[in-house]
Amino acid sequence: MRLDFNLDLDFLQTKSPPLLGVDISTSSIKMVELGDAGKGLYRIERYTIEPLAKDTVADGNIANPDAVAEAIKHAWRQMGTRIKNVALALPAAAVITKKIIVPAGLNENELELQVESEANQYIPFALDEVNLDFQVLGPAANSPDEVEVLIAASRKEKVDDRVAAVESAGLKALVMDVESFATQTAYELIAPQLSSGGQDQAIAIIDIGSTMMHVTVLLNNQSVYMREQTFGGNQLTQEIQRRYSLSSEEAEIAKRNGGLPENYEAEVLQPFLGNLALEVFRALQFFFSSTQFNRVDHIFVAGGCALIPGVEEAILQRTQIPTAIANPFAGMAISSRVKPRQLALDAPMLLTACGLAMRRFDP
Ligand SMILES: Nc1ncnc2c1ncn2[C@@H]1O[C@H](COP(=O)(O)OP(=O)(O)OP(=O)(O)O)[C@@H](O)[C@H]1O
Ligand SMILES: [Mg+2]
Repeated sequence: MRLDFNLDLDFLQTKSPPLLGVDISTSSIKMVELGDAGKGLYRIERYTIEPLAKDTVADGNIANPDAVAEAIKHAWRQMGTRIKNVALALPAAAVITKKIIVPAGLNENELELQVESEANQYIPFALDEVNLDFQVLGPAANSPDEVEVLIAASRKEKVDDRVAAVESAGLKALVMDVESFATQTAYELIAPQLSSGGQDQAIAIIDIGSTMMHVTVLLNNQSVYMREQTFGGNQLTQEIQRRYSLSSEEAEIAKRNGGLPENYEAEVLQPFLGNLALEVFRALQFFFSSTQFNRVDHIFVAGGCALIPGVEEAILQRTQIPTAIANPFAGMAISSRVKPRQLALDAPMLLTACGLAMRRFDP
């Protein structure tokens, strides 16, 4: 997907300016810089994960702009990079997308007019309140005289909030993508984890963060389904807090580093994993009932909850679908600045940021 919500029209003329992928999410700011290692290989040059205090970002909205700007500034200093251009993403819930079919061979102006008139019909806001973008996907199925166009629209303030946050941090937003599209972009990095390569298979990428579970299903690199539902690692943190009378900070640390009483595993962790697997199962049932698909061949788990030991087994047991943890860096060269063991641990959380960092290499 090559949306940028018209942040910078010059971008279209500039050939691949260097940029960083910046994922502004509920629990942290994730920043990734990818370089070209030659032979079609990427290199991870630098990355950082900057934690955010509770309620800084909530439901995909920037609730505390100063704190977000401060965190971005700090993350950028941690990176030690010189690149100031960034690619950002909107949460899928903030974006209305629609695929339309138009005659092939329209020029840019004609296409724009067509897109605007279509958009007028289904976007519930005045067009001057939205950022509108579109991308020609390719020839329409069974119709050589027509092309399929993806339209994406978001309320202006959603775009402006994110742009303002990075600008207050002294950086410049060049690209505004959509989180689920960034996940889709990053799929090319994890597909080689499948022995079959994934050809003609329905692949579900399930990103489970702190508050949301993002479900994307792809068939031959094309998204066939996207959905978000409320479920995430915060539920486990809260249960740890309640059970062991800890503050949320203490619970968060204990959850990651261990050291909880002996009954934690059986009485807290296993029930949470059971719920998580059930949520995944239900999400897939919902996918089957709302599309013509009736199977998923493989599941990739991403997001912070992919780091919980036993998560793949729990999902496999419940769904009977082969499940793996997404590691977008598995086939990449790794800069000597990056610690490989830490990277392997953080990898599933960096999938979206990685998909954004790949925008540097847009043709
Ligand atoms: N090592 C770990 N073990 C268990 N849980 C972890 C670990 N590391 C992070 N988490 C959990 O993962 C969650 C954060 O994941 P992630 O960074 O993907 O979420 P997010 O993108 O900020 O949230 P959202 O997608 O809901 O906006 C938190 O609930 C955190 O406790
Ligand atoms: Mg996330």
